[in-house]
Amino acid sequence: MSGHAHESRIKELLDRMTVDEKFGQLQQLAWAWDTGPGGGDTESAETAAREGLLGSVLNVVGAGASNALQRIAVEESRLGIPLVFGLDVIHGFQTTFPIPLAQAAAFDPAVTEKDAEVSAREARSNGIHWTFSPMMDVTREPRWGRIAESTGEDPYLTTCYAVAKIRGYQGADLTAPDRIAACAKHFVAYGGAEGGRDYNTVDVSEQRLRNLYLPPFRAAVEAGAATVMAGFNTVSGVPAHANPHTLTGILKEAWGFDGVVVSDWTGVQELVAHGGAANEAEAARRALTAGVDMEMVSTTFVDHGRELLAAGTLSAERLDDAVARVLRLKLRLGLFERPYVDESAALTGPTPDTRAAARDAAGRCMVLLKNDDRVLPLDVPALRSLAVVGPFADSGDLLGTWTLPGAPASAPVLRALREALPYTSITHAVGVAPEGFDTSGVPEAVVAAVAADAVVLVVGEPPALSGEAAVRSELGLPGAQERLIDAVTATGRPCVVVLVGGRPLTIGAWARSVSAILMAWHPGIEAGPAVADVLTGAVNPGGKLPVTFPRAVGQIPLYYNHERTGRPYDPAAPEVKYVSKYLDIADGPEFAFGHGLSYTTFTLGDPLLSREWIGARELREGATVEATVAVRNTGDREGDSVIQLYVQDPAAAITQPVRRLRGFQRVRLAAGEEREVRFTLGADDFGYWTNDPAGTFTVEPGEIHIHTGDSSRTGARRTLQIT
Ligand code: GLC
Repeated sequence: MSGHAHESRIKELLDRMTVDEKFGQLQQLAWAWDTGPGGGDTESAETAAREGLLGSVLNVVGAGASNALQRIAVEESRLGIPLVFGLDVIHGFQTTFPIPLAQAAAFDPAVTEKDAEVSAREARSNGIHWTFSPMMDVTREPRWGRIAESTGEDPYLTTCYAVAKIRGYQGADLTAPDRIAACAKHFVAYGGAEGGRDYNTVDVSEQRLRNLYLPPFRAAVEAGAATVMAGFNTVSGVPAHANPHTLTGILKEAWGFDGVVVSDWTGVQELVAHGGAANEAEAARRALTAGVDMEMVSTTFVDHGRELLAAGTLSAERLDDAVARVLRLKLRLGLFERPYVDESAALTGPTPDTRAAARDAAGRCMVLLKNDDRVLPLDVPALRSLAVVGPFADSGDLLGTWTLPGAPASAPVLRALREALPYTSITHAVGVAPEGFDTSGVPEAVVAAVAADAVVLVVGEPPALSGEAAVRSELGLPGAQERLIDAVTATGRPCVVVLVGGRPLTIGAWARSVSAILMAWHPGIEAGPAVADVLTGAVNPGGKLPVTFPRAVGQIPLYYNHERTGRPYDPAAPEVKYVSKYLDIADGPEFAFGHGLSYTTFTLGDPLLSREWIGARELREGATVEATVAVRNTGDREGDSVIQLYVQDPAAAITQPVRRLRGFQRVRLAAGEEREVRFTLGADDFGYWTNDPAGTFTVEPGEIHIHTGDSSRTGARRTLQIT
C-alpha cells in the first residue's frame, strides 16, 4: 500500500472515529510480563481494546498472547483498528548480542545492523511490531548506568550506529514478517544528565544541543526511523516531554518527521512531579501540544483529552495529527492487512547461526587495553596449566542490561577456556563475589595461581550495576575484587585481566601489576566463547574505546572532543601552574577514546589531501575533499586496524573541539599487507551549528586541521585551507 493510499485510509478512518476512539489510539498500556494466572493487569488492556479505546500495548511476550489481544481489538471493537505491540528489544530478543556500548567499540556498524536483523526476525515472529531502540543518547557520563545502552561519547560514531541499527530493524519494507519499527530515543540530550544521575537536569546551549546531541536523531529521521521517544530530562529548563522547540520546531517542522512520538513510560504524567504542570490535565495539554503523540502507561490523554478540546486548549487539528501518525505507523507495518502473527512460525530461541553471529560480534567488540611483553595471545601449545579466577570466571550473568525474560544466559568463560585448551590443566577459584567484602575465598585463588603457569582473572561490574537508574558515584571494581587482584598478582605469576562491565571503570593501581587487560564489556550470549577466542588468539582483537576511561571519578566529565581553553595544559611543560589541570592527578585519561591494541602492529602514513584549499561556497554546493591514508600491517599475523579521521577548526566564532571524529574504517590486513584508506569530507565535516535557535549551520573560512591515526591521541595532521 503506497503512502498516498495510507493517507486516504487515514482520512477515511478519522472521519469515522469518535473523539474517545481518537484519544484511545494515543494510549499505550503496559502488559504485565507474567500474564499467567495471578499475573499482572491484563484486564484493562483487554477491556480498552474491546471498546476501541487502545492504540498500543508494550511488553506482550509471545505470539499467542499477541494474537489473543489483537483478536479482541480487530474482531470485537467498532472499527477493528489493530493494536501495535512494542517491546524493548535493545540488543537481542532471544539471541542476546553484546551491549550497545560494546558494539560501538567494534567501530563497525555492520555489527549492530546484524544484531538488529536477528532481533527483528526473532521479535516479529513472536508478535512484536516495534522496538524502543536504538537509544542514541550521546553521553560523557560513565557514572550514568545507561551509558551501557549508548554508543558512547561521540556524535559521529553514534550517528553511524543509529542509522545501521534502524536499517537492520526496519529493512526496506516494514510490512515484512522479519522487520520491526525502530524508535530513536531519548529525544533529546538525555545523556547529559548532571552528575550522571538518571532523569536529572540537562542544561545545554543551543550549539551543544545541535552539534552534540541532535545529529544522531536527524540522521535517524533521514534514515526513516518510524518513531521517536521523548526523554525524561529537561532541555534547558523545559521538560523534553513538553518541549515544542525540540519536539515540533526541530523534529517535526524542520526535519519533517511524520512518525509517532511516544512518551517514555509515565513521562507525561511525570510533568507534574517535574514541576512542569500543575496537574495531569495540564500535563496532557503541554505534552500533546508540544508534540508527544502517544502516551505510554499513564493515561492523562484519555482521562483529560475531552476537557482540553472543550476548553479549546487542545485543537482538533492537533488531535487528528497525533491519531494520523499512529494510524500511519500501523499502515506502514501492514497491520490492517496482516494483524496476526503465524504462531507456527514463531522462533523459539537462538540457532547455531545466531549464536555464531553473536560470538563474532562479541569478539569484534573487545578492546585490548594493555598487553605487556605480548603475554597475549596465550601460548597454547606451551601452556601446561592455567588458573581461571574471579567472580565472573564461571558466571552466566554477562548478557548485560536490558535483556529480556527467557533469553538464554551467557556461556561462561571457564567452560569455553576448557574447550579451547583441552591439553591445559585448568583450575578455577571464584575468590570473591561480584559485590560484597568477604575475602575468605582469596587464599584458594592464590593457591590456584601459584600452581599455574598463568592466571586469567575475570573481574568487573555485574549487569545489576548497569542500565537504567543504575548510577554509581565510584567507578572502581565493586566489592573486594581489587583485593583479589592484588593477592593474585603478588604471586608473581603472569596475570591477564578480562574486564567485564557496562561502562568505563577506573582501573586503578592494579593495572600496573597485571600484564594484560582485555575489556570484554557485557558480551552477551556467547560471552565465554568470544573471550576464549581472543585469549587463545583465534580472534585478534581490533576494538577501540568509544568512551574515555578516566583515571578517577573526580575528572568527570572527561572526554576527547573537548573544547580548548585559553590555558591548555602542555605535557611538555608540566611545571606551569596556571593552566587547566588537576593538582592531584596526572593529566588526561587512563585510556583514550579510540584506543585499542592488537596482536600485530600497524604503521599509518600521513594523510594526503586531494587538495590543499577549497572555497566555503564550493563546500556549501557539495564539493568534497579526499583524504588518503596508507596503513601497513608490520607484524607477523593478520589483524584489524581502525583508521580514524578527526577534524579540528582551530579558530572559529564558536570554540570548536580539539578533535571531532569524522571518519573511521576498520580494515583487516594480512601480515605485511599495505592498503590505502580513503575518506571523503564535505561541509558537514568542516562546519558547525551556531547558537541560533532557528538552526544555522556555518562553514567558516580559515584553517582546518585533519588528523588521522589509530586513536584520538595519536596520528599525523594535514591542514586544509577553506577560503
Ligand atoms: C524505560 C526507558 C525507556 C524504555 C521504556 C519502556 O523507562 O527509559 O528507554 O523504552 O521505559 O520500557
